[in-house]
Amino acid sequence: MTIYYDTLFINAHLATMDPKIAAPYGAIEDAALGVKDGRIAWLGKQADLPAHKSGQVQDCARGWVTPGLIDCHTHLVFSGNRAREFEMRLGGQSYAEIAEAGGGILSTLKSTRETRQSSLYHESVVRALQLIRKGVTTIEIKSGYGLDLKTERKMLMVAEKIATHDHVRICKTFLGAHALPPEFNGRSDAYIDYVCETMMPTLHRDGLIDAVDGFCETIGFSPAQIRRVFEKAKSLGLPVKLHAEQLSNQGGAKLAAEFGALSADHLEFIDEDGVKAMVAAGTVAVLLPGAFYFLSETQIPPINLFRKHKVPMALGTDCNPGSSPLTNPFLVLNMACTLFGFTPEEALSGMTREGAKALGLGEEIGTLTVGKQADLAIWDINHPAELSYWIDGGITPNRVFGGQICKS
Ligand code: NIG
Ligand code: FE
Repeated sequence: MTIYYDTLFINAHLATMDPKIAAPYGAIEDAALGVKDGRIAWLGKQADLPAHKSGQVQDCARGWVTPGLIDCHTHLVFSGNRAREFEMRLGGQSYAEIAEAGGGILSTLKSTRETRQSSLYHESVVRALQLIRKGVTTIEIKSGYGLDLKTERKMLMVAEKIATHDHVRICKTFLGAHALPPEFNGRSDAYIDYVCETMMPTLHRDGLIDAVDGFCETIGFSPAQIRRVFEKAKSLGLPVKLHAEQLSNQGGAKLAAEFGALSADHLEFIDEDGVKAMVAAGTVAVLLPGAFYFLSETQIPPINLFRKHKVPMALGTDCNPGSSPLTNPFLVLNMACTLFGFTPEEALSGMTREGAKALGLGEEIGTLTVGKQADLAIWDINHPAELSYWIDGGITPNRVFGGQICKS
Protein backbone atom coordinates (compact mmCIF):
# COMPACT_ATOMS: atom_id res chain seq x y z
CA MET A 1 0.00 0.00 0.00
CA THR A 2 1.27 3.50 -0.83
CA ILE A 3 1.08 6.04 2.00
CA TYR A 4 0.34 9.69 1.23
CA TYR A 5 2.03 12.56 3.10
CA ASP A 6 1.08 16.21 2.66
CA THR A 7 4.72 17.09 3.33
CA LEU A 8 7.75 14.88 3.62
CA PHE A 9 10.86 16.23 5.35
CA ILE A 10 14.00 14.46 4.16
CA ASN A 11 17.75 14.64 4.78
CA ALA A 12 17.19 15.43 8.45
CA HIS A 13 18.54 14.47 11.84
CA LEU A 14 15.69 14.29 14.34
CA ALA A 15 16.00 15.25 18.01
CA THR A 16 12.66 13.63 18.81
CA MET A 17 12.97 14.26 22.59
CA ASP A 18 10.83 11.11 22.87
CA PRO A 19 11.96 9.18 25.97
CA LYS A 20 10.99 5.89 24.27
CA ILE A 21 13.94 6.39 21.91
CA ALA A 22 16.97 5.53 24.01
CA ALA A 23 19.59 7.66 22.23
CA PRO A 24 20.45 11.06 23.75
CA TYR A 25 17.85 13.66 22.63
CA GLY A 26 15.83 10.70 21.30
CA ALA A 27 17.94 11.23 18.23
CA ILE A 28 17.43 9.52 14.88
CA GLU A 29 20.11 10.51 12.38
CA ASP A 30 19.76 10.34 8.59
CA ALA A 31 16.03 10.48 9.02
CA ALA A 32 12.81 11.56 7.35
CA LEU A 33 9.48 12.72 8.77
CA GLY A 34 6.11 12.62 7.04
CA VAL A 35 3.19 14.92 7.90
CA LYS A 36 -0.47 14.31 7.12
CA ASP A 37 -3.39 16.53 8.19
CA GLY A 38 -1.14 18.63 10.40
CA ARG A 39 0.16 15.68 12.40
CA ILE A 40 3.28 13.57 12.33
CA ALA A 41 2.36 10.48 10.32
CA TRP A 42 5.73 8.75 10.05
CA LEU A 43 9.30 9.22 11.21
CA GLY A 44 12.40 7.06 11.13
CA LYS A 45 15.58 6.36 9.22
CA GLN A 46 15.21 7.68 5.71
CA ALA A 47 16.44 4.33 4.39
CA ASP A 48 13.35 2.72 5.99
CA LEU A 49 10.78 5.06 4.37
CA PRO A 50 7.83 2.96 3.24
CA ALA A 51 6.39 3.29 -0.28
CA HIS A 52 4.78 6.70 -0.38
CA LYS A 53 3.57 9.71 -2.34
CA SER A 54 3.83 13.26 -1.06
CA GLY A 55 2.35 16.64 -1.85
CA GLN A 56 5.66 18.37 -1.27
CA VAL A 57 9.16 17.36 -0.24
CA GLN A 58 11.24 19.59 2.03
CA ASP A 59 14.99 18.98 2.06
CA CYS A 60 16.40 19.73 5.53
CA ALA A 61 19.99 19.81 4.20
CA ARG A 62 21.21 17.55 7.04
CA GLY A 63 20.05 20.03 9.67
CA TRP A 64 18.48 19.02 12.98
CA VAL A 65 14.72 18.97 13.47
CA THR A 66 13.40 19.47 17.00
CA PRO A 67 9.88 19.86 18.33
CA GLY A 68 8.84 23.53 18.12
CA LEU A 69 10.02 25.25 21.29
CA ILE A 70 7.50 25.85 24.07
CA ASP A 71 7.62 28.86 26.39
CA CYS A 72 5.33 27.68 29.19
CA HIS A 73 5.58 30.77 31.46
CA THR A 74 5.35 34.37 30.23
CA HIS A 75 3.74 37.65 31.23
CA LEU A 76 4.49 39.19 27.85
CA VAL A 77 1.34 41.32 27.58
CA PHE A 78 2.14 44.54 29.44
CA SER A 79 2.70 48.22 28.77
CA GLY A 80 5.85 50.22 29.44
CA ASN A 81 8.93 48.92 31.18
CA ARG A 82 10.65 49.11 34.56
CA ALA A 83 14.19 50.17 33.60
CA ARG A 84 14.07 52.83 36.33
CA GLU A 85 13.46 50.11 38.96
CA PHE A 86 16.37 48.18 37.54
CA GLU A 87 18.52 51.20 38.33
CA MET A 88 17.04 51.34 41.83
CA ARG A 89 17.85 47.69 42.43
CA LEU A 90 21.40 48.24 41.25
CA GLY A 91 21.48 51.12 43.72
CA GLY A 92 20.77 48.70 46.56
CA GLN A 93 16.96 48.41 46.88
CA SER A 94 15.51 44.91 46.71
CA TYR A 95 12.71 43.68 44.40
CA ALA A 96 10.49 43.19 47.48
CA GLU A 97 11.27 46.67 48.87
CA ILE A 98 10.39 48.30 45.56
CA ALA A 99 7.13 46.30 45.42
CA GLU A 100 6.25 47.24 49.02
CA ALA A 101 6.80 50.92 48.20
CA GLY A 102 4.13 50.73 45.46
CA GLY A 103 6.45 50.08 42.53
CA GLY A 104 6.94 46.67 40.98
CA ILE A 105 3.84 44.93 39.61
CA LEU A 106 1.71 47.96 40.59
CA SER A 107 3.67 50.32 38.37
CA THR A 108 3.10 48.02 35.38
CA LEU A 109 -0.54 47.79 36.46
CA LYS A 110 -0.89 51.56 36.14
CA SER A 111 0.53 51.73 32.61
CA THR A 112 -1.35 48.62 31.47
CA ARG A 113 -4.67 50.00 32.73
CA GLU A 114 -4.02 53.30 30.95
CA THR A 115 -3.10 51.78 27.59
CA ARG A 116 -5.72 51.13 24.91
CA GLN A 117 -6.17 47.54 23.75
CA SER A 118 -4.80 48.25 20.27
CA SER A 119 -1.61 49.85 21.65
CA LEU A 120 -1.20 47.09 24.22
CA TYR A 121 -1.42 44.60 21.37
CA HIS A 122 1.24 46.43 19.34
CA GLU A 123 3.63 46.62 22.30
CA SER A 124 3.10 42.97 23.20
CA VAL A 125 3.08 41.27 19.81
CA VAL A 126 6.67 42.43 19.24
CA ARG A 127 7.75 40.32 22.20
CA ALA A 128 5.76 37.33 21.01
CA LEU A 129 7.33 37.64 17.54
CA GLN A 130 10.82 37.64 19.02
CA LEU A 131 10.06 34.26 20.58
CA ILE A 132 8.30 32.93 17.50
CA ARG A 133 11.16 33.85 15.16
CA LYS A 134 13.54 31.95 17.44
CA GLY A 135 11.61 28.70 17.04
CA VAL A 136 8.84 28.95 19.63
CA THR A 137 5.51 27.48 18.46
CA THR A 138 3.59 27.52 21.76
CA ILE A 139 3.51 30.39 24.28
CA GLU A 140 1.70 30.63 27.57
CA ILE A 141 0.63 34.21 28.40
CA LYS A 142 -0.64 35.31 31.80
CA SER A 143 -2.87 38.21 32.70
CA GLY A 144 -2.15 39.88 36.06
CA TYR A 145 -1.25 43.49 35.26
CA GLY A 146 -4.88 44.61 35.20
CA LEU A 147 -6.33 43.27 38.45
CA ASP A 148 -9.73 44.63 37.52
CA LEU A 149 -12.21 42.98 35.22
CA LYS A 150 -11.83 45.47 32.39
CA THR A 151 -8.04 45.31 32.20
CA GLU A 152 -7.70 41.57 32.85
CA ARG A 153 -10.12 41.04 29.95
CA LYS A 154 -8.14 43.47 27.80
CA MET A 155 -4.92 41.55 28.48
CA LEU A 156 -6.47 38.16 27.72
CA MET A 157 -8.03 39.50 24.52
CA VAL A 158 -4.63 40.79 23.44
CA ALA A 159 -3.22 37.31 24.13
CA GLU A 160 -5.98 35.84 22.00
CA LYS A 161 -5.28 38.27 19.18
CA ILE A 162 -1.58 37.35 19.21
CA ALA A 163 -2.70 33.78 18.47
CA THR A 164 -4.23 34.91 15.20
CA HIS A 165 -1.14 36.82 14.08
CA ASP A 166 1.34 34.13 13.27
CA HIS A 167 1.71 30.40 13.39
CA VAL A 168 1.65 30.00 17.13
CA ARG A 169 -0.47 28.38 19.82
CA ILE A 170 -1.29 30.64 22.78
CA CYS A 171 -2.36 29.31 26.20
CA LYS A 172 -4.13 31.98 28.25
CA THR A 173 -3.69 31.99 32.03
CA PHE A 174 -5.72 34.13 34.44
CA LEU A 175 -3.37 35.56 37.09
CA GLY A 176 -5.83 37.70 39.03
CA ALA A 177 -4.09 36.79 42.30
CA HIS A 178 -0.82 38.45 41.25
CA ALA A 179 -0.76 41.52 43.50
CA LEU A 180 -3.20 43.63 45.52
CA PRO A 181 -4.52 46.53 43.41
CA PRO A 182 -4.53 49.95 45.14
CA GLU A 183 -8.34 50.19 45.38
CA PHE A 184 -8.28 47.10 47.67
CA ASN A 185 -5.50 48.43 49.91
CA GLY A 186 -5.69 46.72 53.31
CA ARG A 187 -8.51 44.43 52.07
CA SER A 188 -6.76 41.49 50.50
CA ASP A 189 -9.50 38.98 51.40
CA ALA A 190 -12.08 41.21 49.74
CA TYR A 191 -9.88 41.28 46.63
CA ILE A 192 -9.75 37.46 46.63
CA ASP A 193 -13.58 37.51 46.77
CA TYR A 194 -13.53 39.74 43.67
CA VAL A 195 -11.08 37.38 41.92
CA CYS A 196 -13.22 34.34 42.72
CA GLU A 197 -16.75 35.69 42.46
CA THR A 198 -16.46 38.27 39.68
CA MET A 199 -13.35 38.12 37.50
CA MET A 200 -12.72 34.38 37.22
CA PRO A 201 -16.30 33.25 36.43
CA THR A 202 -16.87 36.13 33.99
CA LEU A 203 -13.64 35.66 32.05
CA HIS A 204 -14.17 31.90 32.06
CA ARG A 205 -17.68 32.35 30.66
CA ASP A 206 -16.15 34.49 27.90
CA GLY A 207 -13.76 31.66 26.99
CA LEU A 208 -10.67 33.65 27.94
CA ILE A 209 -9.13 31.32 30.53
CA ASP A 210 -7.23 28.09 29.90
CA ALA A 211 -5.68 27.90 33.39
CA VAL A 212 -5.52 29.83 36.67
CA ASP A 213 -2.31 31.00 38.37
CA GLY A 214 -1.43 32.89 41.56
CA PHE A 215 1.54 34.45 43.35
CA CYS A 216 2.00 32.79 46.73
CA GLU A 217 4.52 35.00 48.53
CA THR A 218 4.85 37.49 51.38
CA ILE A 219 4.50 40.25 48.76
CA GLY A 220 1.73 38.31 46.98
CA PHE A 221 -1.01 36.18 48.57
CA SER A 222 -1.05 33.73 51.48
CA PRO A 223 -1.53 29.97 51.02
CA ALA A 224 -5.04 30.33 52.54
CA GLN A 225 -5.96 32.95 49.93
CA ILE A 226 -4.49 30.93 47.08
CA ARG A 227 -6.45 27.91 48.32
CA ARG A 228 -9.67 29.87 47.79
CA VAL A 229 -8.60 30.80 44.26
CA PHE A 230 -7.79 27.15 43.49
CA GLU A 231 -11.07 25.92 44.95
CA LYS A 232 -12.96 28.28 42.67
CA ALA A 233 -10.86 27.26 39.65
CA LYS A 234 -11.53 23.59 40.36
CA SER A 235 -15.27 24.24 40.68
CA LEU A 236 -15.15 25.77 37.17
CA GLY A 237 -13.10 22.85 35.83
CA LEU A 238 -10.01 24.99 35.24
CA PRO A 239 -6.49 23.63 35.78
CA VAL A 240 -4.22 25.52 38.17
CA LYS A 241 -0.55 26.43 38.48
CA LEU A 242 1.35 28.60 40.96
CA HIS A 243 4.26 31.03 41.38
CA ALA A 244 5.68 29.25 44.42
CA GLU A 245 8.75 29.52 46.68
CA GLN A 246 10.32 32.23 44.51
CA LEU A 247 11.56 34.49 47.32
CA SER A 248 10.74 32.39 50.41
CA ASN A 249 9.21 29.02 51.31
CA GLN A 250 5.46 29.47 51.86
CA GLY A 251 4.47 25.83 51.21
CA GLY A 252 3.03 26.91 47.85
CA ALA A 253 4.34 23.91 45.93
CA LYS A 254 2.60 21.52 48.35
CA LEU A 255 -0.60 23.48 48.03
CA ALA A 256 -0.34 23.40 44.24
CA ALA A 257 0.26 19.63 44.35
CA GLU A 258 -2.79 19.15 46.59
CA PHE A 259 -4.88 20.66 43.78
CA GLY A 260 -3.17 18.52 41.10
CA ALA A 261 -1.58 21.64 39.62
CA LEU A 262 -0.10 21.46 36.13
CA SER A 263 3.02 23.18 37.44
CA ALA A 264 4.66 25.02 40.30
CA ASP A 265 6.99 27.72 39.03
CA HIS A 266 10.25 29.37 40.22
CA LEU A 267 10.84 27.07 43.26
CA GLU A 268 14.22 28.43 44.38
CA PHE A 269 13.19 27.92 48.04
CA ILE A 270 11.31 24.59 47.78
CA ASP A 271 12.24 21.83 50.29
CA GLU A 272 12.26 18.05 49.81
CA ASP A 273 8.71 17.63 51.17
CA GLY A 274 7.48 20.05 48.54
CA VAL A 275 9.35 18.12 45.85
CA LYS A 276 7.84 14.82 47.03
CA ALA A 277 4.35 16.33 46.98
CA MET A 278 4.91 17.51 43.42
CA VAL A 279 6.04 14.14 42.12
CA ALA A 280 3.08 12.39 43.75
CA ALA A 281 0.69 14.84 42.04
CA GLY A 282 2.46 14.82 38.64
CA THR A 283 3.09 18.57 38.99
CA VAL A 284 5.85 19.88 36.70
CA ALA A 285 8.64 22.10 38.10
CA VAL A 286 8.89 25.18 35.87
CA LEU A 287 12.27 26.84 36.39
CA LEU A 288 12.92 30.39 35.30
CA PRO A 289 16.62 31.21 35.12
CA GLY A 290 15.91 34.62 33.56
CA ALA A 291 14.24 35.86 36.77
CA PHE A 292 16.94 34.24 38.93
CA TYR A 293 19.61 36.03 36.90
CA PHE A 294 17.92 39.41 36.60
CA LEU A 295 17.07 39.60 40.32
CA SER A 296 20.68 38.56 41.16
CA GLU A 297 19.31 35.67 43.25
CA THR A 298 21.79 33.34 44.90
CA GLN A 299 19.53 30.46 45.96
CA ILE A 300 19.54 27.94 43.10
CA PRO A 301 16.44 25.70 42.78
CA PRO A 302 17.26 22.18 44.05
CA ILE A 303 17.86 20.54 40.68
CA ASN A 304 19.30 17.38 42.25
CA LEU A 305 16.14 16.86 44.33
CA PHE A 306 14.00 17.19 41.21
CA ARG A 307 16.25 14.68 39.47
CA LYS A 308 16.27 12.31 42.46
CA HIS A 309 12.46 12.29 42.70
CA LYS A 310 11.99 12.39 38.91
CA VAL A 311 10.00 15.62 38.85
CA PRO A 312 9.81 16.83 35.23
CA MET A 313 11.71 20.12 34.85
CA ALA A 314 10.39 22.65 32.34
CA LEU A 315 11.87 26.03 31.46
CA GLY A 316 10.34 29.36 30.48
CA THR A 317 11.44 32.91 29.77
CA ASP A 318 9.08 34.39 32.43
CA CYS A 319 9.09 37.37 30.03
CA ASN A 320 7.90 40.29 32.19
CA PRO A 321 8.98 43.88 32.86
CA GLY A 322 10.04 43.44 36.49
CA SER A 323 11.98 40.25 37.03
CA SER A 324 12.76 38.91 33.54
CA PRO A 325 12.71 41.27 30.55
CA LEU A 326 13.69 38.44 28.23
CA THR A 327 12.45 37.16 24.86
CA ASN A 328 15.26 34.82 23.94
CA PRO A 329 14.70 31.07 24.41
CA PHE A 330 18.39 30.34 23.71
CA LEU A 331 19.41 32.45 26.67
CA VAL A 332 17.01 30.43 28.84
CA LEU A 333 18.56 27.17 27.61
CA ASN A 334 22.06 28.54 28.18
CA MET A 335 21.34 29.96 31.64
CA ALA A 336 19.63 26.73 32.71
CA CYS A 337 22.95 24.99 31.95
CA THR A 338 25.37 27.60 33.26
CA LEU A 339 23.42 28.82 36.31
CA PHE A 340 21.29 25.80 37.31
CA GLY A 341 23.50 22.91 36.14
CA PHE A 342 21.11 21.45 33.57
CA THR A 343 22.61 19.31 30.85
CA PRO A 344 21.92 20.67 27.34
CA GLU A 345 19.60 17.69 26.82
CA GLU A 346 17.64 18.47 30.01
CA ALA A 347 17.45 22.10 28.91
CA LEU A 348 16.03 21.24 25.49
CA SER A 349 13.56 18.83 27.15
CA GLY A 350 12.55 21.73 29.39
CA MET A 351 11.52 23.85 26.42
CA THR A 352 9.88 20.98 24.51
CA ARG A 353 8.58 17.80 26.20
CA GLU A 354 8.36 19.05 29.78
CA GLY A 355 7.07 22.48 28.74
CA ALA A 356 4.21 20.68 26.97
CA LYS A 357 3.38 18.76 30.16
CA ALA A 358 3.42 22.01 32.15
CA LEU A 359 0.63 23.26 29.87
CA GLY A 360 -1.35 20.00 30.02
CA LEU A 361 -0.49 19.41 26.34
CA GLY A 362 1.87 16.47 26.74
CA GLU A 363 -0.24 14.26 24.47
CA GLU A 364 -0.40 16.85 21.69
CA ILE A 365 2.99 18.55 21.38
CA GLY A 366 6.52 18.55 22.83
CA THR A 367 8.08 15.52 21.15
CA LEU A 368 8.43 14.27 17.59
CA THR A 369 6.06 11.33 17.90
CA VAL A 370 3.62 9.83 15.42
CA GLY A 371 0.16 11.26 16.07
CA LYS A 372 1.31 14.54 17.63
CA GLN A 373 0.91 17.96 16.06
CA ALA A 374 3.62 18.65 13.48
CA ASP A 375 5.10 21.71 15.23
CA LEU A 376 8.75 21.65 14.23
CA ALA A 377 11.87 23.79 14.21
CA ILE A 378 14.52 22.99 11.60
CA TRP A 379 17.98 24.19 12.62
CA ASP A 380 21.17 24.68 10.67
CA ILE A 381 23.33 23.16 13.42
CA ASN A 382 25.62 20.14 13.74
CA HIS A 383 24.44 18.97 17.17
CA PRO A 384 21.41 19.74 19.38
CA ALA A 385 23.70 20.91 22.22
CA GLU A 386 24.36 24.00 20.06
CA LEU A 387 20.93 25.29 21.03
CA SER A 388 22.15 25.70 24.63
CA TYR A 389 25.72 26.55 23.70
CA TRP A 390 25.31 29.80 21.74
CA ILE A 391 24.74 32.32 24.52
CA ASP A 392 22.39 34.47 22.48
CA GLY A 393 21.65 31.83 19.83
CA GLY A 394 22.12 33.76 16.63
CA ILE A 395 20.31 30.97 14.80
CA THR A 396 16.99 31.41 13.05
CA PRO A 397 15.21 28.15 12.37
CA ASN A 398 12.68 27.31 9.73
CA ARG A 399 9.43 26.69 11.55
CA VAL A 400 6.57 24.34 10.84
CA PHE A 401 3.28 24.81 12.68
CA GLY A 402 0.58 22.14 12.49
CA GLY A 403 2.32 20.82 9.39
CA GLN A 404 2.39 24.22 7.65
CA ILE A 405 5.77 25.58 6.68
CA CYS A 406 5.88 29.14 8.06
CA LYS A 407 7.15 32.04 6.00
CA SER A 408 9.55 34.62 7.55
O1 NIG B 1 7.21 35.67 37.57
N1 NIG B 1 6.55 36.70 40.73
C1 NIG B 1 5.62 37.31 40.24
N2 NIG B 1 5.47 37.60 38.94
C2 NIG B 1 6.51 37.83 38.01
C3 NIG B 1 7.09 39.16 38.14
C4 NIG B 1 6.14 40.21 37.83
C5 NIG B 1 6.71 41.59 37.84
O2 NIG B 1 7.65 41.90 38.60
O3 NIG B 1 6.17 42.36 37.04
C6 NIG B 1 7.55 36.73 38.01
O4 NIG B 1 8.70 36.92 38.43
FE1 FE C 1 6.08 34.70 36.41
